[in-house]
Amino acid sequence: MIVVANWKAYVESLTQAKELHALAKRLAKRATIVLAMPHPYLGAFSGSVPARAAQDLSLYESGAHTGEVTAAALSSLGVGYVIIGHSERRAQGESDEVVAKKVQLALKEKLVPVVCIGESVRDEDAKYLAVIRAQLAAVFTPLSQSERARVVIAYEPVWAIGKSSSEAIQPSDLGELVLYIRKVLAEYVSVRVAQKMVILYGGSADAVNARALLEGGGVDGFLVGRASVDPDTFSALVRSIT
Ligand code: PGA
Repeated sequence: MIVVANWKAYVESLTQAKELHALAKRLAKRATIVLAMPHPYLGAFSGSVPARAAQDLSLYESGAHTGEVTAAALSSLGVGYVIIGHSERRAQGESDEVVAKKVQLALKEKLVPVVCIGESVRDEDAKYLAVIRAQLAAVFTPLSQSERARVVIAYEPVWAIGKSSSEAIQPSDLGELVLYIRKVLAEYVSVRVAQKMVILYGGSADAVNARALLEGGGVDGFLVGRASVDPDTFSALVRSIT
């Protein structure tokens, strides 16, 4: 079970970061906890329990690129994971091609890419399936077989992000989508590997709905935004699924 806490820009002091980190350390006995922090906090912690993730990384390997944080810089701090292609970054103009390039840079530095995919709307003609397929194809086509197996997928339907649990996806709809994702993955890796690849769900997951989403959705864990920065809520969520 993997729970990625996407702190986004909610955590605004090192004091708050330290409190959440201490909680995650305790919860790490129950699940693999990955804290996706704003960049400045990443260097304030060490070790791999809980694991640390960046929320994004540079498209450049190094050089004259003011303000960029490279895969190598993250890796040198012991960061283990990086979220790539979050819908809030795609909304800033990040294309499938940019996402694909960032995944390659992350893998080169032995960072585990947590690649966010998901449709903006659920249309009745199921065109959203083509959106998911295209997002996966862009990432997986350029990779080698062994690289493909190291990618973690976070399915985050954009329409379900930042809402309340009553507006999150239904477990049965999630289950169908996860089957579809594994079917597409099996076009890039063996069926056996596709079955084992890690798929997370994100989008208004909390202590109320996580257990049902886990049981009905067939996911391997969650990418949690808002519910990850309140200690009681995050603790309740992790305890509800472990
Ligand atoms: P949310 O965010 O849990 O606040 O909906 C999830 C995400 O965007 O990663």
